[in-house]
Amino acid sequence: MSAILPPSQRLWWKQPLDKVEGTWIALALLWCLILFFMMPFWHVYGKQNLSNEAYRTSPEAFQKKAQELVDQYTVRTETDANIPVVRPPAGSDIYILGRLWQWWPIYELEKGQTYRVHTSSLDWQHGFSLQPLNINFQVLPGYEMVVTMTPDTSGTFTIVCNEYCGVGHHTMVGRIYVVDKKE
Ligand code: CUA
Repeated sequence: MSAILPPSQRLWWKQPLDKVEGTWIALALLWCLILFFMMPFWHVYGKQNLSNEAYRTSPEAFQKKAQELVDQYTVRTETDANIPVVRPPAGSDIYILGRLWQWWPIYELEKGQTYRVHTSSLDWQHGFSLQPLNINFQVLPGYEMVVTMTPDTSGTFTIVCNEYCGVGHHTMVGRIYVVDKKE
């Protein structure tokens, strides 16, 4: 029998299930259930599947908010592209925008403080992946994702884009610095 010709037995679904086929269906179902229950489990016990909030926004409105922080709190610039490094007040809302092909700006956060991290895209879909913590979520134009984070380790964290977004996708990396409280 081939897929081009109709099946010789029209009521093929009424034939008894082969043991091997049944076993595979049971295995596939079991695996589906395991993956399904991993979602709530990992949300509660893992540190990667964070609760997030999502709101409607527009690229213009979002860019304006990021620009306001850059204008007020930039402490220096980095790389040839002069990406601003912004040190916002401890515990504030910060805005990271994704666009072809950068994450902008770089933030310097204080260890032990809680920040509301807003992320949105100015053009099309990107993926926000914070390494080495492995926090991942999608970033879409028109929506802002808000994740509440309290960095508990100081150091440099890398933001990688993990949704293919064109020829410069692999260069779309950003940074977050976490520093100990300054005296
Ligand atoms: Cu942005 Cu890939």
